[in-house]
Amino acid sequence: MAKFYINPGHKLGHINPEIQGHFAEHLGRCIYEGVYVGEDSEIPNVNGMRCDVVEALKELQIPVLRWPGGCFADEYHWMDGIGPKEKRKKMINTHWGGVVEDNSFGTHEFMELCRQLGCKTYINGNVGSGTVQEMSQWVEYMTFDGVSEMTELRKANGREEPWTVDYFGVGNENWGCGGFMTPEFYANLYRQYQTYVRNYREDHKIFKIASGPNRDDYDWMEKVMSTLSYFRHPRSNQLTDGISLHYYTHLHSSSDKGEAVDFDEYQWYKVLKRTMYMDELIKKHSAIIQRYERDYPVALIVDEWGTWFNCEPGTNPGFLYQQNTMRDALVAGINLNIFNKHCDRVKMANIAQMANVLQAVVLTEGEQMILTPTYHVFNLYKCHQGAELLESYIETEEIGVVPELMIPNLHESVSLGVDGKVHITLNNLSTDTAYPVEAVLTDTEIAEVKGEILTQEMHAHNTFEEPEKVKPVDFKPDNVIGNKIMFTIPACSVLHLEVAMK
Ligand code: AHR
Repeated sequence: MAKFYINPGHKLGHINPEIQGHFAEHLGRCIYEGVYVGEDSEIPNVNGMRCDVVEALKELQIPVLRWPGGCFADEYHWMDGIGPKEKRKKMINTHWGGVVEDNSFGTHEFMELCRQLGCKTYINGNVGSGTVQEMSQWVEYMTFDGVSEMTELRKANGREEPWTVDYFGVGNENWGCGGFMTPEFYANLYRQYQTYVRNYREDHKIFKIASGPNRDDYDWMEKVMSTLSYFRHPRSNQLTDGISLHYYTHLHSSSDKGEAVDFDEYQWYKVLKRTMYMDELIKKHSAIIQRYERDYPVALIVDEWGTWFNCEPGTNPGFLYQQNTMRDALVAGINLNIFNKHCDRVKMANIAQMANVLQAVVLTEGEQMILTPTYHVFNLYKCHQGAELLESYIETEEIGVVPELMIPNLHESVSLGVDGKVHITLNNLSTDTAYPVEAVLTDTEIAEVKGEILTQEMHAHNTFEEPEKVKPVDFKPDNVIGNKIMFTIPACSVLHLEVAMK
């Protein structure tokens, strides 16, 4: 019996809703087909956004959406994506499949999508191949409400009021696809570009994000942060609100990614072990950030995370289309628990990506749409959005198939939700063993416990032929006495318990 201690009286930090953010890039069928089908499509849509996908995403209470990339961001020229669609420039999407990008989804369409989703906006600007002026004018176009050329242009394109840009990324992966820069060179460019990401309205402060490292590139973090905290001018203040971190879970490496559906137990445990590495990455990068922040904390923004396997056979390799199994569900559950536990530092995280790309929450084929196991995990975890992290500890044992890849059998996080209830999310990482658990809530009397669980065999996934093979079902604990909940968590599962206290 695993003892699980929860202290509802000890709050450890605020869980920013944006920890459950999403990312949509002009990549494969993410934007086009996945989200945007155009006003003339036979697929039911509102202003070009497909209704089924928007409805599904609204159910997740998506807090924030990052766009337009990714690698695409550093070759995107925003002015190509405004004005009458028939006049918009066509370009080659060189990073992703070499396909024609017709720019029919641009700034106005992104803002419309966020309006329909009711989410915050995270725009990623172009440092790699764009100019300071271009970035500056984009921000002016979107957010200025006075008299200016950019404001007039926006109005001429049909939008009277400025929009809100909540987050702005200055470049993406500038150590790689965003220009292959050295950290010092990028950091100096960041200092320059961010100067012109102006706050035009008193009530509108843009949260600026510097392009951070890939996985364990601590040298990048160190050099960028040290360059950003170096000042000559007495009136200058902290230059960035956040810095990003990208970490994808591959089976072996970025050149040997493994299969999304066809895997064995060894590969199951290896992927979960590699996912848990996120915890170490956050700790070590946070320690570096802490040494350089000055006026206020610099947030760690994990704006790309998720599984990255070989794409589905027969699909365009540049489109990164992959299936999504119970293994992905566990990867999502573990990562979201880790972000909760680091909510003091991680203020936003964005799964890659929203539709039809990498660890997608929805997959589409023509007019059909299916929800992936990862979708259901986000739905089970949405209770944590805006909640307070609670102190918790669970007894675990090491499991796995080879000594070097052992992982804990259970993985949890607990919060006090905005609804005043305790929310427990617990993952069983074992492929075959159920574990009895006794949860003890300190100094509490429990009134009621409700539960929902996602559980299936490890390869289980949804298809267009069988769209509901994996979906959550109700879960009832075996017993609730005083401040204790007794239950058995089945193998290979993601569980959410909602506890009402007296
Ligand atoms: O999400 C796919 C790609 O992964 C992004 O474009 C890039 O930022 C990262 O390398």
